[in-house]
Amino acid sequence: MEGENTIFLISSFDREQESFKELEYRARTGRFTTVLDALIGLKEHVDPSLSFRYSCRMGICGSCAMVINGKPSLACETNAASAAKDGIISIGPMRAQPLLKGLVTDFDDFFQKHREVFPWIIRNNVREQFDDKKEFHQNEEQRDYFLPFAECIKCGLCIDACPVENTNRFFLGPQALAQAYRYIADSKDQGREKRLDYLDTLNGVWGCEFSGSCSKVCPKSVDPALAIQLLKAEITKYRLTKK
Ligand code: FES
Repeated sequence: MEGENTIFLISSFDREQESFKELEYRARTGRFTTVLDALIGLKEHVDPSLSFRYSCRMGICGSCAMVINGKPSLACETNAASAAKDGIISIGPMRAQPLLKGLVTDFDDFFQKHREVFPWIIRNNVREQFDDKKEFHQNEEQRDYFLPFAECIKCGLCIDACPVENTNRFFLGPQALAQAYRYIADSKDQGREKRLDYLDTLNGVWGCEFSGSCSKVCPKSVDPALAIQLLKAEITKYRLTKK
């Protein structure tokens, strides 16, 4: 069989023992093999107990987030040959979330924070909000304000890379904050004040220390660090109007 012989060092969480097991496997990896392909092969042919999440295998669902060679990454978007250093790839679960099993982490808190920023179009007329016949027209320029921030696939890589999220579990974090901005920047939305009031706290936008690491790992180039700075500007303007 063609391909490189790659060593996979996997730090897997053992739920019964509440500790990590260091596992080592060898697998043949070809030019186009992704880390996810290799993990699926290992699970099918070597160790059925390997636990990890995945679904789309093409960088869309955000399920296969894990730490590869120390960097939060999508396994299906990481080419094994490029990732291997001296023929070795190290893999572990994300660190900002509670561990469940193997490489699988718990996203409950992540989605709770996402919900807290009202991630939907808010209309002053609530009936309008739920009227499926109502259309809200936008031109290209209006659309381009929010579209880059709407690409989030909720993989959680940004929160894993965030030094604040890793030390303060109450911080809303780059994913939720970027999604708050996504709706504030949307000309269809009328929930700006409601969101800005909610985010104007030390665990909201002011918790961000602007390390920028969230934007560096985002697989969709959403740039949460930029969104948070834009939110700070929005809040500053909004405070002036309240005086
Ligand atoms: S499996 Fe869907 S993003 Fe990787």
